[in-house]
Amino acid sequence: MGILRVCEFPKDRILKQKAKRISRIDSSVQNLIDDMIDTMPHSHGVGLAAPQVGVSLRVIVVQMPEESPIAIINPEIVKCSGEQEVTEGCLSVPGYYGEIKRSAKVTLKGKDRLGKEIRIKATGLMAEALEHEIDHLNGVLYIDHVENSEKLHQIQKGHSDNSKVGGFRE
Ligand code: NI
Repeated sequence: MGILRVCEFPKDRILKQKAKRISRIDSSVQNLIDDMIDTMPHSHGVGLAAPQVGVSLRVIVVQMPEESPIAIINPEIVKCSGEQEVTEGCLSVPGYYGEIKRSAKVTLKGKDRLGKEIRIKATGLMAEALEHEIDHLNGVLYIDHVENSEKLHQIQKGHSDNSKVGGFRE
């Protein structure tokens, strides 16, 4: 168990790199997942991708409010549809939030921490979280989806509580 340092844009180049597929799910992968879950903040809809903790491998964790965290290894979006306008923040881009568009519905496949095939159908906040985290595996940040500077906002100093941001944030 352990809290890992979270990489930040633009200083940590790993955030812009494409992460590698995991070919063998061993104890090092399971320990990484445990540490990622420990590192996630425990408040609102949250998630974390391995590149954010300095590991360029395809694994993500997400946790919806009032639910247990789930880990997905080699996640792949197999279907997405619709559109939702969301307000999003990212642990790796501290001090900002932005308004972007995400899919309304997402179907994803991957493996759980024991290597079992899983398939997840998600809407709303969960669909948004899955797209946000999979983007991290491809070196994409939510700020890459912000259409113009008016849609990117700085969190005012002194307001460390960003609960008014709404939407998904890590
Ligand atoms: Ni993020």
